Parts: sequence; C-alpha cells; structure tokens
Amino acid sequence: MASITVRQLDDKLKRLLRLRAARHSRSMEDEVRVILRQAAEQTGGEVLEHLDPPARPTRQTTRAIAAGTKRILLIIGGGIAAYKSLDLIRRLHDRGAQVRCILTAAAQHFITPLAAGALCGERAYTDLFDAQSEFDIGHIRLARDTDAIVVAPATADILAKMAGGHADDLATAVLLATDKPILIAPAMNPRMWAAKPTQRNLAQLIADGIRVVGPNRGEMAEPLEIAAAVAAITRPAGPLSGRRVLVTAGPTNEPIDPVRFIANRSSGKQGHAIAEAAAAAGADVVLVSGPVSLHDPPGVSVVKVETARQMLAAVERAMPVDIAVFAAAVADWRPERTSENKIKKQPGQTPSLALIENPDILSTIAHRKSDRPRLVIGFAAETEALVANAKAKLAKKGSDWILANDVSPQTGIMGGDTNTIHLITANGVESWPPQSKDEVARMLIERIVGALGDAKR
Ligand SMILES: Cc1cc2nc3c(=O)[nH]c(=O)nc-3n(C[C@H](O)[C@H](O)[C@H](O)COP(=O)(O)O)c2cc1C
Repeated sequence: MASITVRQLDDKLKRLLRLRAARHSRSMEDEVRVILRQAAEQTGGEVLEHLDPPARPTRQTTRAIAAGTKRILLIIGGGIAAYKSLDLIRRLHDRGAQVRCILTAAAQHFITPLAAGALCGERAYTDLFDAQSEFDIGHIRLARDTDAIVVAPATADILAKMAGGHADDLATAVLLATDKPILIAPAMNPRMWAAKPTQRNLAQLIADGIRVVGPNRGEMAEPLEIAAAVAAITRPAGPLSGRRVLVTAGPTNEPIDPVRFIANRSSGKQGHAIAEAAAAAGADVVLVSGPVSLHDPPGVSVVKVETARQMLAAVERAMPVDIAVFAAAVADWRPERTSENKIKKQPGQTPSLALIENPDILSTIAHRKSDRPRLVIGFAAETEALVANAKAKLAKKGSDWILANDVSPQTGIMGGDTNTIHLITANGVESWPPQSKDEVARMLIERIVGALGDAKR
C-alpha cells in the first residue's frame, strides 16, 4: 500500500472517497485502486505499472451485497462462550448477512481477531484509539453503517457498561453511538446472572429498548437461535409482518446407491423467489430446499435436504406456520432399497429398480388435525389437461389453492426463469400472464395478503 497514501489527500477528497468506498463496501485504499484501474483502462494501461497487485478479494467483496442483504455488527465480549460467536458469524452468513466484528480486550483472551476476521471476510476491530481503523472507518461509522448490532456473548461487564452509558473502549463507544437496533445474548455464571446489579442492568437495558436472546440455563443462546433473533429484528415491516411462512423448493434426490440417485429438472427458482418475496413482505420465512445451485435468499432460514422423507421431516419441524407454500418437485417414488455400496456393472446383467411411494408432503400438511396452516398452497406441474388435473389435485390433496403450471419441455418452465400460472381456488380459476418467476412470487404474495385480510392473527 506504500504507493497509495490516502492520508495525503485533502479533506474534501477524503470525504468523497470514504463515501464511495462505503457504498462499494471496500476499504478506501481498495477504492483508490479500482479508480486507478478504471482510469488505466481508459488511458491504455500505463497507470497499472505503478500499482501494487490488487488486494485479494475478501469473502465480503466477492459476495454480492444484494438488495436486502443485512449488515450486522457483532460485538464479541470476553466470556467463555466467545467461541460460539465464530459459529454465529457462519450462521449469519448462511442467512445472507454481511458481518463485521468488534472484539473487546477480554474477548481476545478467548478467540483471536484473526479467526473472527477470517470468518467475517474483513478485519476484526479491537481498538478505539487505533489511528488506522479510526481513519479507515471510525467508530461512528461502525455504529451507523449497520442494520443491527449483536452483542454475543454479552458479559456481565458489558451489560453494566451499557446500562451506565460507558464508552471507554471501542465496543461500548459504538454501542452508545448507534441508532440501530441492539440485540444482546448474555452468557455468564448463574450467580453472576442472578446478581442484583446484573438484573438491575438488564431491566434498564430492556427499558431502553434493547432486545435480549437467552441465556438458556446459564448458557448463551445457540448461534442458530441468535441468528433467528437477528433476522426478526432486521426484518422489514410489511403486510406479512408477524406471519410465519414455510416454502419448499427444488427437487428431491432419491438415492439408488452412494453415487446414483433419481432426480428431476426442478431448479428451485420459483420456491426461492416466493421465499424471498415473503421475507420482503415482512414474514418470518423458513425455506426447505432440495439440492439446488442457488444462493440462499436474504433474511430467510434455509433448511437443506436431499430426499422427500427428509423434506417432510424438516417441514414438520418448521410447524406451526400461518402459510405453507409447497413449490418443491418432490419425487413421487424412491428406490425400494438403497444399496450401501456402488452397484457394480456385471456383463450381460441389467439391475432392476423397484420403487415405492414417497410420503405426500402437501397432503400430509393439508390434512393435519392440529396446527394446520391457515393457507396451504400447492403447485401442480402438469404436461396435459392442466386445469382439470390441477382441480382434481386441489380436491384430493386438501390444499386451499393450487398453482398449476405446464411443465411440458417446450414451455421451458422447468429450470427456466419464467412461469405461466393458473391459480385454482374454491372460487374458480384465475389465469396469470406469462411472467418471470419473481413476478409470479410477488403476485402470489399479494393474493396471500389479500386472502388473509385483516383477520385476527
Ligand atoms: C476463564 C474466564 C471465563 C469468563 N467467562 C465469563 C462469562 O462467561 N461471562 C461473563 O460475564 N464474564 C466472564 N468472565 C469475566 C470477563 O472476562 C471479565 O468480566 C471481563 O472484564 C469482561 O470484559 P468485556 O465485557 O469487556 O468483554 C470470564 C473470565 C475468565 C477469566
């Protein structure tokens, strides 16, 4: 970085550069490199010779910061549960969040800034008085350039400092300077937790609007629980706020032996689009997805499964929900037995494959005696007599709505980006125009919002 000295720029230029770098989630130095590279491309390349090799892209810069991606600032306190925060970073990434870390001085006795930084994909911040990080980002921007702050583990000491408004290190200064929602995951010895000052501090923090997750029997809440609580506080308010939505997507793979399986052409695009649209409408969304090559939609809990039976188990674990949309192309049958070893090719012999029926997930959930979702929506992928078959499916499966689509190869719907839907309800058939799967998802969410109306939750 010797060849680029950002510090020597005048204040106005520095301010503009800082804004541009923040917009692109790059360091100021990397932003300068990009600007110079763009200039070099326009002037024939000579500027490039004077540049350091480009900084290796971090996990965060290579990750597309998609619309709706949440930025989380994770403050790691000095408790024994600090190691769990490393897993929390992964869990937050799995939900599509961008994570930045601050470690208190005590936290660094338990885990290293290197480990936290490597998992975040950017350096971890530790010191209020570090001139370089204050210049690069500054504690005020750390406090503001985020959608939420999570303190995990929140030690007795941090709770006391927060309740008292202290700001004598980077973590507490940021906590005091922020205007963003704060979630704390306390973790401490049961006596420290029960101590009057701790309980007094906690009551004060709750009164100040700070959200709390855990502890569970003295232990910090599990990373998955904390990630779900983060999703809840960063979820946009919308017409489905307070509703829980389950979506299934993708194909299922039914194993024949360790290397072979029965699959289908479903891409999972329609189900993923519905999950994303439901989350954008404010719902708490669980997406149970078969094997697909798609990114997890931001702000959605994704459960990955392979087989129909795993999908049913994941769906049942996700209950109760208000709305269930079954967009997955679940294999109707699976091999009766799965060979433990790869089936060997034998000269002159063709193995026969006996199939048995898979559970019917849509019908199972639609016929639940207790905790049936208020709205059960299925998909019918047909290649002939589309509407007639879909109407029969609506009656047979007990679902409230069926979205029928023609998956004949010439339509390009299976695996493609567009879809033509006929919505079949007890009131009749509504044929939607051909449109992108994202538009289908938005239209379906509109219909769901309309159907739920302002009925009591
Ligand atoms: C081995 C060890 C484990 C600790 N575990 C916890 C803990 O789980 N919770 C807690 O509140 N404090 C714990 N402490 C005490 C904190 O590290 C101490 O209060 C420290 O000042 C907290 O600093 P911080 O809040 O700035 O991170 C532990 C201390 C040691 C030596």
